[in-house]
Amino acid sequence: MLPIYDRPMVTYAIEALVEAGVQELMLVTGGTHAGEFFRLLGNGHDYGIDRLFYAYQDQAGGIAEALGLAERFVDRDKVCVMLADNIFERSLRPIVENFERQDGGGRIVLSRVEEDEHLRHLGVAVMTDDTRVAQIVEKPESPPSKFAVTGIYFYDAQVWDVLPTLRPSGRGELEITDVNNWYVGRQAMEADVVEGFWGDAGESIDAYYEVNDFVRRNRTSR
Ligand code: G1P
Repeated sequence: MLPIYDRPMVTYAIEALVEAGVQELMLVTGGTHAGEFFRLLGNGHDYGIDRLFYAYQDQAGGIAEALGLAERFVDRDKVCVMLADNIFERSLRPIVENFERQDGGGRIVLSRVEEDEHLRHLGVAVMTDDTRVAQIVEKPESPPSKFAVTGIYFYDAQVWDVLPTLRPSGRGELEITDVNNWYVGRQAMEADVVEGFWGDAGESIDAYYEVNDFVRRNRTSR
């Protein structure tokens, strides 16, 4: 609900998904202000969402745990997951179309990030060539490449069998990076590299202000 420039952060993610063709969405949230999301988004129709569902995560159990709450909503189909603190300059539509064309497996989206101080707070891909990911390292002390793993992920129905096998990480969370590495380890993970600006406004307070500055300068806000 924190603002990016002149409106709540979550609305950017929702608009990016709707613009990319997503019509059914489940918002997973937690904490003491979950009701604010109902108030802002309602049934989703004003945002172009056909059917909007909500789930409540009652602890900070990680992104993979949050995804597990959407299992019945997705009904063991394939799924797109987006973290609502991610701001992309470019359309996500070509990436969604790439996923729709692929036979199975997963898909992640990489962004080239030059500064190690950012990369140390993110998932970073070890690359074998320009598009093949050999492994993802979560919050590496020495980043193995400049390719950050952004917060939009695509999975086939195998993901519902992977989630119950996960164990909490050092920070006590079920890590989405462990899900991604499961696919990577089976040569079942594709990757796109997104051009243009990408920011994770939840990465750090400095990243939050950088994302705000980008949006203000570029007036992607309405
Ligand atoms: C999460 C993922 C990380 C990814 C980032 C993108 O980090 O674990 O791999 O790079 O989102 O926004 P978290 O927000 O949980 O620190």
